[in-house]
Amino acid sequence: MPLICFASPKGGVGKTTLTANIADALQRLGHRVLAVDLDAQNALRLHFGVPLTDRSGFVSDLLQGGSDWRAHLRQTPSGVLLLPHGAMDLRGALDLAAALDRDPELLGAPMREMLAEPNLVVLADLPPGPSQALALLAPLATMVIGVLQAEAISAALVPEIESGRFLGTGTMAALLAGRLRVVLNGVDLASRLSRASAEAVARHLGYRMLGAMSREETVAESLACQRLLLDHAPESRAASDLKEVARLISAALPPPVAATPPAPEPVVSPEAAPLSQQPTVEASR
Ligand SMILES: Nc1ncnc2c1ncn2[C@@H]1O[C@H](COP(=O)(O)OP(=O)(O)OP(=O)(O)O)[C@@H](O)[C@H]1O
Ligand SMILES: [Mg+2]
Repeated sequence: MPLICFASPKGGVGKTTLTANIADALQRLGHRVLAVDLDAQNALRLHFGVPLTDRSGFVSDLLQGGSDWRAHLRQTPSGVLLLPHGAMDLRGALDLAAALDRDPELLGAPMREMLAEPNLVVLADLPPGPSQALALLAPLATMVIGVLQAEAISAALVPEIESGRFLGTGTMAALLAGRLRVVLNGVDLASRLSRASAEAVARHLGYRMLGAMSREETVAESLACQRLLLDHAPESRAASDLKEVARLISAALPPPVAATPPAPEPVVSPEAAPLSQQPTVEASR
């Protein structure tokens, strides 16, 4: 099943915001969506109303033998399934990096299990820059969405995007570059520099530009309220940008389940709890 990764050469550009809100928008378009947090900042959960004090998660449990990702699944009020990263201190992060170096399957095996789930679109939020998780997931991905800000430095990052260099090296980078698309976030039409930067990036990237999202207070506010943008400010310009990006991603995916003919009865392993019976997040929308 499809995997869409959100990555960027530079940090703080809106990856987590887009992962959460595009997951919600795709769910509203009829897709069944799982959002996976692979960044130790453990912030994706906050967009879905998971309390700050709830620190458990999938990646932080990998070293404790917690390879059963289903045990960490949350059914969020939006309908999106969520796998929080889990809180991790420096020691944990270093140990996990060393373990993944020795055995990439520690993360690779559960990720492939998720991708084997029928009719599930998996969205992965990655840390900024190159990472073990990105190196592992990019070859499995249907699409890698590189997020750039509409600012001057983004023009300097265009060669990283065009070559696929931040996804791999040498021939591997060239192979993976084909699945890279860009969303330009934080476009401020009132700012000459923001507009000029956005236009320069769009001109260079051509068809690889998937869409743009305007800079708007409502986006940051929705996180402050732990709500999704389409709930918090459905009439905003950012919300309409978001829906357009989600529509383009949806068009590249297999049609939502409801639109497909009935599938044969799935074979469920006895120990795996069905995804529909996962614990819910206690939050109001
Ligand atoms: N379009 C936007 N308009 C206004 N604020 C935005 C917009 N997109 C993101 N933000 C705000 O920018 C900040 C950074 O966003 P976010 O955490 O999604 O970036 P990130 O790329 O995931 O960061 P990191 O690299 O640290 O993981 C957040 O406070 C978010 O609310
Ligand atoms: Mg992030």
